[in-house]
Amino acid sequence: MRLYVLSALCAFLSVLPDAVSGQLTTSVGPLTSRSAKASKRTCSVLDYGARADNSTDLGPPLLAAFNACKSGGVVQIPSGNYALETWQTLSGGNAWALQLDGMIYRAGTAGGNMLFIEHSTDFELFSSTSRGGMQGLGYVFHAQGSITGPRLLRLYEVTSFSVHDIVLVDAPAFHFVMDTCTRGEVYNMAIRGGDHGGLDGIDVWGDNIWVHDVEVTNKDECVTVKSPASNMLIENIYCNWSGGCAIGSLGTGTSISNIEYNNVYTWSSNQMMMIKSNGGDGTVSSVTFDNFIGHGNAYSLDIDQYWSSESTQAGNGVQLSDIRVSNWHGTEASGSARGPIRIICADGAPCTSITLVDFAMWTESGSSQWYACRSAYGTGACLHSGSSYTSYAVSTTTLGSAPTGYSAATMAADLKTAFGFTTSIPIPTIPTSFYPGATPVSKLLGS
Ligand SMILES: *[C@@H]1O[C@H](CO)[C@@H](O)[C@H](O)[C@H]1NC(C)=O
Ligand SMILES: *[C@@H]1O[C@H](CO)[C@@H](O)[C@H](O)[C@H]1NC(C)=O
Repeated sequence: MRLYVLSALCAFLSVLPDAVSGQLTTSVGPLTSRSAKASKRTCSVLDYGARADNSTDLGPPLLAAFNACKSGGVVQIPSGNYALETWQTLSGGNAWALQLDGMIYRAGTAGGNMLFIEHSTDFELFSSTSRGGMQGLGYVFHAQGSITGPRLLRLYEVTSFSVHDIVLVDAPAFHFVMDTCTRGEVYNMAIRGGDHGGLDGIDVWGDNIWVHDVEVTNKDECVTVKSPASNMLIENIYCNWSGGCAIGSLGTGTSISNIEYNNVYTWSSNQMMMIKSNGGDGTVSSVTFDNFIGHGNAYSLDIDQYWSSESTQAGNGVQLSDIRVSNWHGTEASGSARGPIRIICADGAPCTSITLVDFAMWTESGSSQWYACRSAYGTGACLHSGSSYTSYAVSTTTLGSAPTGYSAATMAADLKTAFGFTTSIPIPTIPTSFYPGATPVSKLLGS
């Protein structure tokens, strides 16, 4: 009887995506199923002049198919290779899906966004085989010394949506941006870009977005939240040779609250998690960084409110409060060069209520590591206690022996050498595991 009640409860909970966490305050994802959309109308780009010959421009046929199916239907890009020469803005759809089973190769050279989806509701972008996606051939730009080419995919003011089971490869600039989107779910994705800054994986801002089971390879943002943002859950993230995850960079009028990162595995990245700003104002509050594993990274936890003097903003500093960091394990590249805890808050806006719980990391080289805090209050490591919240200079604690229980699992398939930046990057398959021991929430559609 008890078992029955439990399994009935689980079955009930599993149909409510928002039930998995308190971070999300609404349901997320499309409102209408793929099959219901398909039974209303299906518009294959092949019927609008597209050819899977990696040479005919997919742009005009895609726009025509979208116009025919945008008020309820599925736009299909069947498997095969397509050349996209003219970037497309797909604006104003409702109850529609884009089934991307093919691979879209960049064939044009304009800036902007290869695929820009805006003002849509009840939208789903997916590959039914988990093999579709976009190949930006960014290396061609990069070999010429430029990182200013097009971005691959941008969603703007899209509501009740999902993006899943696609790969995004080698963007000339950013891979995937969600700008002012709400009620979204993003999952089962592999993003693989060049080994260089400026090639962000996922940047997201808006409200009620669940990003889970995503792998990013690049050398800039892995999955990063920007302002304004609220009610985001980001979990089972594999930064497999990346810049690492972050919140920021932040400027004036920052408004970020109720953000949770959970189960983040970071390998060979610039940091495991960063909050970055320099000046600015506004607030970041109620943020949780739970269950992080790192290996081979430069920084680990890196809150830096004096980050990059090039991007100094007006203001005394963004006020950070109620930040909980718990269950971090693993190793960092060099704990004496870059210690695993850096909490450098703005003297003009000291951080309050930062909590470090079960944080045990150790250095991979040398025999010491440091923790550094500045103008930061709370409990754990070098944080100051009390409630006067006055500014203080950097204080550093050096540790000469490993904390107990620091060791943590590695992922079997960690990338051993980078792909570089100026040679072509192979299209990956989407992995079936994104964090040691965690099972992805949804099976790959193509499995
Ligand atoms: C498609 O064309 C691009 C050049 O525009 C080329 O780099 C790529 O290898 C081609 N893809 C396939 C599968 O032939
Ligand atoms: C990590 O990245 C490398 C290179 O992209 C890849 O070979 C490996 O399969 C990735 N790991 C997983 C689990 O996808």
